[in-house]
Amino acid sequence: MFATITSIIILLFILIILFKQKFKAKQFNLLGCHVMVTGGSSGIGKCIAIEAAKIGANVTIVARNKNKLQSALENIKAQCLNHNQKFNYLSVDLAGDYDIVKKSFDNAIREMGPLYMFVNCAGMAICGTLECNSSSDIMQMINTNLISTIQATKAVINDMKHNGYGSIVITSSLASFCGIFGLSVYSATKFGLRGFAEALSMETKNYGVKITLALPPDTDTPGYANENKGKPLETFLISETAKLFTPEEVGSKILQDALDGHFFSTVGLEGYLMTVSCAGMAPYTTYLELICQVFCTGILRLVSVYYLSMFDKIIKNCKLDRDFGNRNL
Ligand SMILES: NC(=O)c1ccc[n+]([C@@H]2O[C@H](COP(=O)([O-])OP(=O)(O)OC[C@H]3O[C@@H](n4cnc5c(N)ncnc54)[C@H](OP(=O)(O)O)[C@@H]3O)[C@@H](O)[C@H]2O)c1
Repeated sequence: MFATITSIIILLFILIILFKQKFKAKQFNLLGCHVMVTGGSSGIGKCIAIEAAKIGANVTIVARNKNKLQSALENIKAQCLNHNQKFNYLSVDLAGDYDIVKKSFDNAIREMGPLYMFVNCAGMAICGTLECNSSSDIMQMINTNLISTIQATKAVINDMKHNGYGSIVITSSLASFCGIFGLSVYSATKFGLRGFAEALSMETKNYGVKITLALPPDTDTPGYANENKGKPLETFLISETAKLFTPEEVGSKILQDALDGHFFSTVGLEGYLMTVSCAGMAPYTTYLELICQVFCTGILRLVSVYYLSMFDKIIKNCKLDRDFGNRNL
């Protein structure tokens, strides 16, 4: 008994040290390096682009709406480190014709220089139980989250491998670790991105190209506000059990983790514990991280079961409330 308690305390201690280490900001500069961010006209993507501009990068942002792109680019330019930096935007539907995506990326790379970092951040969620999701909602989520990311990455991967350096960020979600009520299709696309990132990491490892799987928690962005519009009560109450982060916090952490070469990028202790407990066959970045995963997975499984039972209770009470007007949350 004493030995068990001691080992739990030691494990918690290791976890806290690792968590703090992840948040220790290192000073990097991206002076003259080309960073391209899809979804860079809004939310998390825009904040990543701003952070990159602050440390000297030449930044290209990609999205569909030209007005939003132009106004975001002004905000990004305003935060630049020096006046030699270059800025550009591309208006392209990443889920559309692959040849158009490839051609516009090639033009931007010719103009702005070889890519040092490519950040996939275009994505969206439409909440609702499966029977409430229309076929067009389903296709929109699959196209925006999966197809856009796969096509955009395909358009740059060969050049990056050929250059022999660089970093690619795939923005998934903590919903790629756990399916949540009201987010079945969204979770499916984000689980898919995790598989994509793991496989890609094996393909690029020997070419000097690092892959980072970004797993944002709930983040206060225009996309999140949109997602809240049709959110079932169950999904809303489950997300209320976790903290809402700002896009600035999430964006700067993703950029930092990508620069540090981490495979997983999360914000907050809960997110970090999920990366430890759900590591599976994912690549590890440091031996300390690996040791932590090896020793903490068992105990964290108990924590996840506690959360699962809490979510089940929320869902059951919402059903009771609907059926009998008898909510007891
Ligand atoms: N916010 C959260 O709570 C949260 C949590 C977990 C994960 N995430 C993920 O983080 C990423 C960013 O989320 P966010 O909340 O910051 O989103 P957001 O504010 O809605 O921004 C989405 C961006 O993607 C662009 N976009 C969408 N579809 C596109 C397409 N087909 N082609 C090109 N660009 C496209 C949008 O511009 P246009 O519409 O003009 O094209 C916009 O710039 C997404 O992948 C999201 O799933 C967010």
